[in-house]
Amino acid sequence: MKRLLVGFKASDLTSELLAGDTLCHTLDIYHAHAIEKTRPDAKVVCSAHLPGGDWDEIVFRTGPKLMSGELSLDLLQEIHLLSPRRFTLDFVGRERDRNDLLGKIKKDPDRVRSFAARYPASVPGGRRIELTSFPGCFCHRRRDEGGLALAEVAARELAQARSPVKLLDMGCGCGLVGFLVAGAVPGTALTMIDSHSRAVEAARLNSRDLGIPAEVVLADDGIASLPDAAGTFDAFVGNPPYYSDYRIADVFLETAKSALKAGGVCYTVVKNEAGLKPVQERYFPSVEIVRRRGYSVLKSVKPLP
Ligand SMILES: C[S@@+](CC[C@H](N)C(=O)[O-])C[C@H]1O[C@@H](n2cnc3c(N)ncnc32)[C@H](O)[C@@H]1O
Repeated sequence: MKRLLVGFKASDLTSELLAGDTLCHTLDIYHAHAIEKTRPDAKVVCSAHLPGGDWDEIVFRTGPKLMSGELSLDLLQEIHLLSPRRFTLDFVGRERDRNDLLGKIKKDPDRVRSFAARYPASVPGGRRIELTSFPGCFCHRRRDEGGLALAEVAARELAQARSPVKLLDMGCGCGLVGFLVAGAVPGTALTMIDSHSRAVEAARLNSRDLGIPAEVVLADDGIASLPDAAGTFDAFVGNPPYYSDYRIADVFLETAKSALKAGGVCYTVVKNEAGLKPVQERYFPSVEIVRRRGYSVLKSVKPLP
């Protein structure tokens, strides 16, 4: 019995689900690592699309609190195209929402829809860019105002320095911040990291389409997988997610500190700096606040030794 589990997190997995020849699919490498850590018996794959195969069963766990409706539909479409012998929907939510979701795909099950979106963005003094995004990747269908505020501040300050910049964009999503800064600061050497496979897929596509070279890495542990990267970056930009009590912001700032060379600049962004500032102060001796678009950009410089 070859079974594929889609949408399951480590805490959802039971021995019954993992019995036999079962593969767990995740979109985010963080969730893949969490499964590997807590269920050493599980086989896991992290990829932007579901793995092909002659599946006897695909079990899909979804619901309005677990993922967006558009990502659910996109994954349902991928499951339909894989033609498993059996399909089980493990829906977390109201019966009405479950029927709505299934209704959308049942109307015309063989129609293959593209869920990709394109939108423009620009910063003063930089080039206008168009980005492609996919369901699941941040930000899908619209640019994030916090990311834009971060790009505006970093691009303005880095362009004033008038020298090429080696830039690390952590949690790049589809690439809004890194590509906007690179489009405003000539000679930028860009590295992007994200833990979400669809963000990485979108950032690589956008790098090609925009003609802005970038090394795009799938990772949830910062620059650990990049050889000799520590202490080499001139600038760091990060718009971290703020759920989980700043735990992820902490990973971002730890990476910023180790990635930057002495004198390098770290920029992060948040709606209200009260929670993030003390975290950033754990890694840098001082934090300057630059207000933009109703957001706070937190700027720190790595001190000389
Ligand atoms: C708020 S979004 C910002 C996206 C983009 N920079 C922007 O401003 O539009 C945060 C991003 O961080 C990514 N992320 C979360 N945890 C991460 C980790 N440990 N390492 C790298 N990226 C991570 C998410 O997948 C998401 O793409």
